[in-house]
Amino acid sequence: MKNLLKLLLTPAVLLTTVALSAQPDDRSGLVARGRYLVENVGMCADCHTPRNERGEFIAGLSLMGAPLGFAPSFPMPAWAPVAPPIAGLPTMTEAEAVRFMKEGVRPNGARPLPPMPEFRFNEADATAVVAYLKSLAR
Ligand code: HEC
Repeated sequence: MKNLLKLLLTPAVLLTTVALSAQPDDRSGLVARGRYLVENVGMCADCHTPRNERGEFIAGLSLMGAPLGFAPSFPMPAWAPVAPPIAGLPTMTEAEAVRFMKEGVRPNGARPLPPMPEFRFNEADATAVVAYLKSLAR
């Protein structure tokens, strides 16, 4: 009887162990995809990372917010001259930020001012972008 119980329990324990140990890998895969989307597709640093006088990104301030280096060439009252910090996404929960990246809507229902693009990432990509940005919290 004892042996039978052992026989039945071992696979269950093994499966649970595998499932639990798989989680960090899943998260790191998600974060890696998010990093790719942020750095190579969305080009978020273009606006959200400050630059030095030679136009180079300032090391150590990645995605920490920046004044924009450009302005509209015609009067445009609805214009945000500063891109806020997005490393760690300090102003939004994960769920709020996923919606923001999918629908371009803030938690309070407002839309971001230009030149912030209203991104239309799909659920999987928005989740990855947000996982990466949240991982940058200091
Ligand atoms: C062309 C410039 C530009 C690019 C590229 C850009 N942003 Fe922005 N972003 C802004 C500006 C400007 C704001 C402020 C908008 C406002 O005040 O409504 C902003 C706001 C945000 C906010 C809201 C932050 C807050 O606390 O209010 C988030 C989140 C954000 N951007 C994420 C991203 C991500 C992620 C990417 C890349 C996938 C990205 N942005 C690319 C300019 C940009």
